[in-house]
This record gives sequence, structure tokens and C-alpha cells, in this order.
Amino acid sequence: MKKVHIKSYGCQMNVYDGQRMADVLGAEGFEETATPDDADLILLNTCHIRERAAHKVYTELGKLRELKQARKADGRETTLVVAGCVAQAEGAEIQRRQPAVDLVVGPQAYHRLPALLAEARASRVVDTDLPPDDKFGHLPAPKPAAILARGISAFVTVQEGCDKFCAFCVVPYTRGAEFSRPVAQVVAEVERLAEAGVQDVTLLGQNVNAYHGEGQDGRIWGLARLMHRLAEVPGIARIRYTTSHPRDMDDDLIAAHRDLPQVMPFLHLPVQAGSDRILAAMNRKHTGDEYRRLIDKVRAARPDIALSSDFIVGFPGESDHDFEETLRLVEDVRFASAYTFKYSPRPGTPAAELETQVEPAVMDERLQRLQALVERHRQEFNHAMVGRTVEVLLERAGRHPGQLAGKTPYLQAVQIETATHRIGERVMVTIERAGSNSLFGRAVPRELAA
Ligand code: 5AD
Ligand code: SF4
Repeated sequence: MKKVHIKSYGCQMNVYDGQRMADVLGAEGFEETATPDDADLILLNTCHIRERAAHKVYTELGKLRELKQARKADGRETTLVVAGCVAQAEGAEIQRRQPAVDLVVGPQAYHRLPALLAEARASRVVDTDLPPDDKFGHLPAPKPAAILARGISAFVTVQEGCDKFCAFCVVPYTRGAEFSRPVAQVVAEVERLAEAGVQDVTLLGQNVNAYHGEGQDGRIWGLARLMHRLAEVPGIARIRYTTSHPRDMDDDLIAAHRDLPQVMPFLHLPVQAGSDRILAAMNRKHTGDEYRRLIDKVRAARPDIALSSDFIVGFPGESDHDFEETLRLVEDVRFASAYTFKYSPRPGTPAAELETQVEPAVMDERLQRLQALVERHRQEFNHAMVGRTVEVLLERAGRHPGQLAGKTPYLQAVQIETATHRIGERVMVTIERAGSNSLFGRAVPRELAA
């Protein structure tokens, strides 16, 4: 059997895409392997969001070229494929910079992989067309064994692309305009996952709460309505979604956090910055106070919700005062977790043209201060769990023998000691201790857990 090694960088949507490419190649007789060393086909599924991510690809390709040459000397062929957002953004430039690459394939062409690979045997190929055709409708369904091997939590992309055009972001260019998969297609995929044993789904989209798919009644459904439908799928106990834009956080979606027990009390809602001047320059289409009021509404619907966010420090023109506004917003909201990034100018985006780029040393200092603050809040959120009893979905073996690991509804990792419970069970756990990255607890009978 031929073997394929897929290495995904960047976001969860790339992880999902990597799995779907594995499904496509599985149907062509490829078996997945965890290392490049024994692979006939090596596929890098790349990310273009920040310069560092994009740069990694070329470093990795340099190494793979050596591997490919060494094998060729032994009479073995290796096919090298670059997929994902760097493929989309840089296209033929990749083959120019790294001649060992056989095929460059953009995120909208994955269903064409078998044909493209056949073509690439004759000459090198680039396919970075953005759709007209619906790739999801052409991708083969994963086999139950493949689903199970990936675990009882699964990603399902329901939306791709973005129409928001934040001034710093490449997504509208690499992933194109917003597209939502039809409800029936999503439901069929989630039913298949559930039949194979998946209990926990995370609905993905670059701007997932702008979901507007064709419903089973022929009307356009929003994300809230889609989740109501998915909550009816037998076996699906937990639903999350990521990543969202504050402007698309409508009342139905907020109400779903109150009304649907399957919708987990966790929300990743990037704000990026706290200063209204910077938010306007970023073209975010909301102010700091509008974000605060939105959070108040979300918390009114679901008081215990864990909030998460993304931040960029050092956007062009960001002053000390602007940065203090970001810290003030963080103090006001108190996130359970957050991702923090230094601004990275991206080719083709409006912000990259601005002449007020912030000094690297200033960016470093701001990043450290912001990280220290969000880390303090994260630890406080985790420590506040001690003594509480929450449901944990057991997902895998723990760090030590006799331990199982799972997640709370708030997406925290938990380890429990147990001889009686099994992976796939949802157990009530009293949290006894908070470590720096995990909670530790003990299972208690459900009837005692009130
Ligand atoms: N520089 C730094 N961070 C960025 N992000 C997006 N574009 C850039 C950029 N040019 C961050 C945003 C986004 C997350 C996925 O990546 O915070 O929410
Ligand atoms: Fe990028 Fe997100 Fe802004 Fe869209 S909403 S442009 S994906 S940061």
C-alpha cells in the first residue's frame, strides 16, 4: 500500500482539511503515516496568517528536498505537495523557489487531488482556482474506522471564507468570499460521525457565526438554527463553534447558549484590540464598548460562559495609550483564555501599506505585558473550578497509567484517576486541584453531583 504523510499547520480548519485530504487519498489506496520517512506522498498543509507561519513552509521544504534526493539515489520516488493557504497565496512562486515541489494545490481544489496527482506525474502542476464548484459535495465521506481513529471529538467545517476584510488579514484573499455548506450536507456528515461514535463536534468556519446555509425547508438558516438541528442528532452531546466575529453574534445565537444544553458554555470571540481608534483602523466594524455590551448580553444568557479571544499588539499606529485600552478591555472582560499575536504585515493587505509600523522592541514589550495579564486571568478561571463538580467527557488515556483525560464544558483539560471508567464516557468530576495546564479531579456518582 502507498503511504501518505500529511502535516498541517495553522488553524483547526487546516486540521479538518488535512483529514478530508486523507479521506480523498484513502479512496485512492493511500494509507496515512505519522512520519515523512516512509511516505511516498508528503503533503504540507500550510498557513499564511502570519509571516512566520508562511516562512516555516520553505524551511520544511528545504529539508524534504534533501529527503527526496536521498531516496531518488536509492531508486525510490517521492511526491511533494504543498496545499493550504500559502499554496493559494503564492502559487507558482512556491515551485520557483523550491523545484522539488511536484504539486501546488489551493484549499478549494482538494476534491481534484487524485486527478492533479496523476497530472503531476507528467509535469509539475499548480491549481489555485477559487470555486465555482462545491468541493464539499465531491469529497468522499470518511470511513467509520478513520473517524474513530481520530477520536470522539471531531471538527466539521460548515463555512469558509470571509467578507469582513479586517485591514491586517489575508483570509479574504486566501480563502475567498464567504460560503456556507447546505444544512442537509452538514447534518449528513454529523450523523455519520455520531454513528461512528463521535459525541463532540466543533463547527468550523473562518467566520462561522456568519453561517447562512440553505436549510432543509429551502430557506436560509443561521448558525443558531443549524445547531438546533444538530442537537437532534442522536449521540451528539456537545457542540461548539469557532471562530466568530462580534458583528455576527446575533440574538438567536446568544439564546442558543441559554436554550440548548448541547451548546457548550464556551465562546471564542476575537476582539483584536481595545482602542476604538485602532479598531477603526483595523476595519473591525465595532468599538470596545460595543464588544463589552455584547459580552454582557452573552453573560446574561449564560452566566458561567468561558470567553476566549484573539489579540494583535503593535498594529500600525498603535500608541502606548491605545495599548493601555487593550489592557483595560482585558481587565473588564476577564477571558478564560486568549491568543496573543504580534502584528505581522501581510502582502496585499491594506495595513501592510501603512507607514506607521510599530518598532519590534515595543511590540515585544506589549506582547509580554498582555500575555502576563491574560495568563493571570486564565489561572484565576481555572482555580475557581476547584471544589466544583462538572461533567467531563473522557477522551483519551491520561499522562500516567490509571489516568484518563477529558474536557470540561469550558474546554479545560482534566485528568482523573480511575479504574472503572472508560474513554467515551461522560462522568461527573469534582475538581480537586488546578495545575498550570490541566485540572485534576475525582469521578463522583451522577446522583451525588447535584
Ligand atoms: N498579524 C498578526 N496576527 C494576525 N491575525 C490575523 N492576521 C494577523 C496578522 N497580519 C490573528 C488575528 C486572528 C487570528 C486567527 O490571527 O488575531 O483572529
Ligand atoms: Fe480575518 Fe477574521 Fe477579520 Fe475575516 S474576520 S478578515 S478572518 S480576522
